[in-house]
Amino acid sequence: MCGIIGYTGKGKAAQIMLDALELLEYRGYDSAGIALLNQGHTQILKSAGRVKDLRKLYAGQKPDGQCGIGHTRWATHGGVCDKNAHPHRFGRITLIHNGIIENYRELIEKYHLQGKLESETDTEVVAAVVERFYTGDPYSALRRTVLKLKGTFALAVLFDDQPDKIFAVRNVSPIVAAVTDGGAMLSSDVAAIVPYTQDYFVVPEFHVVSLSPEGIELFDLSGDREEIEWMKADWDVGKSGKEGYPFYMEKEIMEQPDAVRETILPRIRNGKPDFSQEGIPDEMFVDCKRICVIACGTAMHAGLVGKSLIQAMIGIHVDVVMASEFMYNDPVVDKETLVIAISQSGETIDTLEALKFARKCGSPSISIVNVKGASIARASEYVVYTNAGPEIAVASTKAYTTQLAVLYLLTARMAMARNLWDEKKLTGYMQELSRVPEVMEQVLKTKEEIHRLAGVILNAKDVFMIGRGLDYSILLEGSLKLKEVSYIHSEAYASGELKHGTIALITEDTPVIAVVTQDKLKSKELSNIREVQSRGARVLLLIKENEALEEGQEWSCVYRLPKMEDSFMVMPASVVLQLIAYYVSLDKGLDVDKPRNLAKVVTVE
Ligand code: G6P
Repeated sequence: MCGIIGYTGKGKAAQIMLDALELLEYRGYDSAGIALLNQGHTQILKSAGRVKDLRKLYAGQKPDGQCGIGHTRWATHGGVCDKNAHPHRFGRITLIHNGIIENYRELIEKYHLQGKLESETDTEVVAAVVERFYTGDPYSALRRTVLKLKGTFALAVLFDDQPDKIFAVRNVSPIVAAVTDGGAMLSSDVAAIVPYTQDYFVVPEFHVVSLSPEGIELFDLSGDREEIEWMKADWDVGKSGKEGYPFYMEKEIMEQPDAVRETILPRIRNGKPDFSQEGIPDEMFVDCKRICVIACGTAMHAGLVGKSLIQAMIGIHVDVVMASEFMYNDPVVDKETLVIAISQSGETIDTLEALKFARKCGSPSISIVNVKGASIARASEYVVYTNAGPEIAVASTKAYTTQLAVLYLLTARMAMARNLWDEKKLTGYMQELSRVPEVMEQVLKTKEEIHRLAGVILNAKDVFMIGRGLDYSILLEGSLKLKEVSYIHSEAYASGELKHGTIALITEDTPVIAVVTQDKLKSKELSNIREVQSRGARVLLLIKENEALEEGQEWSCVYRLPKMEDSFMVMPASVVLQLIAYYVSLDKGLDVDKPRNLAKVVTVE
């Protein structure tokens, strides 16, 4: 959570930082601020509100400076107000922070800071501690400071008497850095850097990095200089803009056919699933006795689809655990448990900690991550990158379907490694997987029809979504999407479970979205739908094209999904559910890309 940026060089620091903060705003958007260092003088502009409010503040004052740091906040300590916005300043030190300093109260006591701080944040305390240790050597001051901190932090610091220089250090919370034309930048993630360069590196934990217009230097905590390990972003710069769409969410939904193509094609060789570029040995798929998927939010929902696929096709037990609960349920994982961590950002702290724990228990691990070089990717034994490109909208769409695509591929490789399928079955499965992008395109062509369907629930207070098996798994995600972006209360229910309580909430005109895509479940699902219809529900049905419906059953609306083999139907159906959520939010006039209270990258527990 929170986005941090730093720039020093020939360019206009304030403009560069404001643009970058807009790209990082998905990390938190309740306040924003920048600090500019100019000839020993540091000027801070900050306020509660969005980056656009900060822009207005800047336009009124236009402070000068070619070196600065900037921040976009998701409040943890201290409410949302101007004084709690970052940067924070104490003495000669100006600082921004992403993370949580758990022992900030002890530090206030220890360094007698009571009554000397202006904000309620843990961050200002860190600025005060750096100031206390600063005697002209920034490296030493930062080294001594971080040894006193408990918690997670990414800190970027300006010292009044260190012209044109930015210093940074981190534990867990991410920082990447890059040399640009005539300058250097640091950021919480690559989204803000790719408009300038594709070459970047991940600042290692507990290392001090210093940026100047001449370049970047990296030191370990003993003060020894270290080599930098450069990486390539591979992200298309053009893909960071909205490209004519009113919101990133729509653009990202529309990009799904390409994103899925980019994810599967490099991993199909001679018509077979292939993870040799990732170096994943087949033994991993053969030796495991069970699988444990750990993930949060949308990524966890992708895991649920993976569970259904793997259990049905491979016949081994799969648990899907919310990473935030993993540690509190005495997890049973061992060297025979293959752990699959799924994360778009690769930085979700709950997922990261759960993965580290599983590895300590000896579990082999694969992560499915979208952001190259992210912490989860580095903490797992093997990583499969979803090639979705930058996902900016807080509500995840293309990351989800590309995670599903990887899970389909992993299932097939597992079946191959275990000799479970004959050639014909494998070929059929892979051909069907390769068809997913074009089927998604077919759905996207009908977006105006889906827009009209969304009108059915536009003014609803509550929406229920029902289905069984794979249909239920995708409805959990469809319901999350609707809640996130439209603020309509919605619940996804396994249709058979509805009568064990929730059906009490179905009354005249309650909107229900039902998904029926699995032949083996169709008759049961349709009878469950009758149960809600008998109680007055208005049902919007998603069902395969050409699927017969009984005479006499009344539907509010029926959407016909392009047909695929049953286990792949989740792909076209998910796109419809995403578009329904999107259009409801759009028609309500909400800020689709930045739903209230949320952040895209959750780096606090
Ligand atoms: C946040 C985001 C969700 C996302 C979840 C997990 O809650 O708002 O969209 O699904 O984190 O994020 P990850 O980056 O680990 O996939």
